[in-house]
Amino acid sequence: MTGRIPPASPTAHRPKDKETNPTMTPSWTTRPESAGDVAAIRDINLAAFPTPHEADLVEALRADPQAWLAGLSWLAEAPGGELAGYALLTRCHVGDSPALTLGPCAVKSEHQRRGAGSAAIRAALQAARERGENLVLVLGHAEYYPRFGFTPASGFGIRPPFDVEDKYMMALALNPEQPVPSGVIRYPAAFGV
Ligand SMILES: CC(C)(COP(=O)(O)OP(=O)(O)OC[C@H]1O[C@@H](n2cnc3c(N)ncnc32)[C@H](O)[C@@H]1OP(=O)(O)O)[C@@H](O)C(=O)NCCC(=O)NCCS
Repeated sequence: MTGRIPPASPTAHRPKDKETNPTMTPSWTTRPESAGDVAAIRDINLAAFPTPHEADLVEALRADPQAWLAGLSWLAEAPGGELAGYALLTRCHVGDSPALTLGPCAVKSEHQRRGAGSAAIRAALQAARERGENLVLVLGHAEYYPRFGFTPASGFGIRPPFDVEDKYMMALALNPEQPVPSGVIRYPAAFGV
């Protein structure tokens, strides 16, 4: 994709269904990562996952100019300024057609299930939509990602380059007017698949 990346502005998010309990559901501010956030992003991923694999993956993706797209690495910040949630979109392909892969998505354990993950993911998807991106793929919790519009990738004729139960490999078309390629997903090298 060519052209200027539109500036992404911070946005406040409060889960609609939990507005009655502001103590439990902070209003998250989302923003794209900046140069000073690298260590905090590592900390979020280390806190959310049992091994450093995902924290290392983010850094390997950031070092790969074919995978990393400026403005598609998003943070959710608590009212006090603590960075709690993270969502990353990087370049992948379906066949020869460009697409995005979502992940890692991570929230510090003490902040999980309070909307930080949703806020970061929605903000990343919106930034991708504003860039004119369309197809987004995610491999993950089949009970979580459908809330953002993801459905099984097999429904688009898209399959991963490894065996996984159908429901875990999901896809989302950000702009239903655009055609969606079908074929096998090619991940950035950092994913090691
Ligand atoms: C998964 C994760 C990113 C979700 O972010 P979050 O801020 O905790 O979740 P949100 O507050 O946005 O959404 C809460 C909803 O997600 C669901 N949810 C959270 N974690 C889930 C999981 N592991 N599997 C399925 N659903 C999950 C909750 O049940 C809740 O559902 P409800 O709204 O129907 O009550 C976060 O919990 C996390 O970092 N988990 C550990 C790392 C991980 O599994 N990352 C994703 C890899 S695919």
